[in-house]
Amino acid sequence: MSYAIVGFGKVGQALAHAFARKNIDVTVASRRPPEALAPQARAIGPTVIAKLLREALEADTIILAVPFGEHREVAKALPSWKGKTVIDAMNALVPPEELDGLLSSAFVAKAFTGAKLVKAFNHLVAATLAADPIVEGGHRVVFLSGDDEDAIGPVMALAKQLGFAPVKLGKLNEGGALVHARGRVWGQLIFQDLFKKEQ
Ligand SMILES: NC(=O)c1ccc[n+]([C@@H]2O[C@H](COP(=O)([O-])OP(=O)(O)OC[C@H]3O[C@@H](n4cnc5c(N)ncnc54)[C@H](OP(=O)(O)O)[C@@H]3O)[C@@H](O)[C@H]2O)c1
Repeated sequence: MSYAIVGFGKVGQALAHAFARKNIDVTVASRRPPEALAPQARAIGPTVIAKLLREALEADTIILAVPFGEHREVAKALPSWKGKTVIDAMNALVPPEELDGLLSSAFVAKAFTGAKLVKAFNHLVAATLAADPIVEGGHRVVFLSGDDEDAIGPVMALAKQLGFAPVKLGKLNEGGALVHARGRVWGQLIFQDLFKKEQ
């Protein structure tokens, strides 16, 4: 598996820390050129490599850590998303009417035609996500949801490799709704910083 994080702000860097902690290669990109991101990438760790967006999108698994409204711009950067797994770490603070009545990740999935989408890593504040997920022998929980069962397994494996305890919530419009923000309403599991003894 190859990984890229698109968006290198608070959440993108928090996730880059998680990859670096475990010496897992990850590409990071934003609208800025790689030279602009490289010093911060290097400061996080040697496995974090800044690239141009189009080069980063060669990875098979791409984590979206851009402001919600920017996801369409990222989607346009590839002619086809077939074969890619997209991990949606975004929260949409827009009213449901602006999402065609869909939950935000289902709305995002429409832009990434052909990709398999998993919602994950969105429910914790960036500083918490950046911290070591192993505390007193317990593993910090991350919630995963998605409509493509095939894609959830590999993302669970990634979350475990990063030291988290992944918990599957099911499809986006079932358990996944618990980690969705809709307008000013936050899903009940958002901000819940939970630990499991076993991964
Ligand atoms: N902050 C949190 O605690 C938190 C927690 C959970 C989830 N989230 C969600 O995570 C997402 C990112 O939040 P954040 O706080 O990390 O935001 P942020 O600090 O503002 O970072 C956003 C990043 O996205 C990049 N970006 C913007 N438009 C882009 C585009 N079209 N293509 C590529 N890169 C682009 C920006 O870099 P350039 O300007 O260089 O392009 C920047 O690196 C949001 O959807 C937010 O709701 C945030």
